[in-house]
Amino acid sequence: DTARHLPFEFNESVQSLVDASDNLKALPSKYNLGDTNDTGASSCESLPVIDYSALTSSDPHQRSKAVAELAEACTDWGFFVLVNHGVPEELIESLFATVREFFRLSDDEKKKYEAKSTSSPIACGNFNLKSTSNETFTLWRDFLKLYVHPDFYCPTKPQPLREILVEYTERTRKMARELVGAVAESMELDRKYVEEALELDSSFQKFGGNFYPPCPQPEQTLGLPAHNDPGLFTILLIHNGLAGLQIERQSHWFEVNPPPNSMIVNVGDHLEIFSNGRCKSSRHRAVVNKERERLSIAVGNGPGKDVVVGPAVPLVEKDGGALYRSMKYQEYVESQLSRTFDGISILDEQR
Ligand code: SIN
Ligand code: FE2
Repeated sequence: DTARHLPFEFNESVQSLVDASDNLKALPSKYNLGDTNDTGASSCESLPVIDYSALTSSDPHQRSKAVAELAEACTDWGFFVLVNHGVPEELIESLFATVREFFRLSDDEKKKYEAKSTSSPIACGNFNLKSTSNETFTLWRDFLKLYVHPDFYCPTKPQPLREILVEYTERTRKMARELVGAVAESMELDRKYVEEALELDSSFQKFGGNFYPPCPQPEQTLGLPAHNDPGLFTILLIHNGLAGLQIERQSHWFEVNPPPNSMIVNVGDHLEIFSNGRCKSSRHRAVVNKERERLSIAVGNGPGKDVVVGPAVPLVEKDGGALYRSMKYQEYVESQLSRTFDGISILDEQR
């Protein structure tokens, strides 16, 4: 029974649990992780802001200033707010509306997209955690994960989803490539070399929809426990900028309040590896809240699936050694997924 070994499964969506109970007062025990908010979080006012239009500007002065700011953001926080990204607001609004509609489908309908393995190109369900005493807990989050590049997968319902996703993922793929190019420039790496080394023409791109219904006891559970993202850059949209995302920095948690029409972008493990530690992949998590449902859309942009990612050769020469060992991207992702989701990145084990 392979499903037993998956960190995720589809039993009942959180949404249908909430729908079925008239006024849910307490968390069913399988969602109760105990006190999860012991560390608290301070509000974060200083997340760097990067202007995408300056980054892609034909004015070399504007551009080089933005490149330097991007490099600083990737080194310092590993997270930044992206403004003037150029993705039309209507596209983003219809993306949110359609993804929300997906999560509102019946469980029978959504169950068709249950994952059969950790590498299923379509996966809908809930994530499980194992406690040290081997009990299984379920996180307060319904998710939909799709492989969208180089091959594109998408549920057939809601019907407009495909067209919207094709456009949004194409745009974000292009943006991620621009960001990688700008970071390469800041590290004095040849852009062509980087694009080829990471096989960006066939970059592996994953779409993730996260739906967190209102939760009766938010301090006793989590939407997403602390984790690092694999890949190069994750581009995140948060519907209505609702708080919930927290970033770890210098052993402290910071809450993110994204401004309207912005995106949140973070460095993934593979960019940290490729940059030989110049860029930082930061741990983050999502907490839930009592009053409002929260919807976020994370698009992960990786190198090609079969690329062996290690520190860029010119950087290794410059630094006098590689700080990370090389590993095939897909193996890295799968080994991370099949581990107990305990918040320890395999980056930590590599160091
Ligand atoms: C994440 O994708 O890691 C965070 C998503 C969120 O803010 O809901
Ligand atoms: Fe993440």
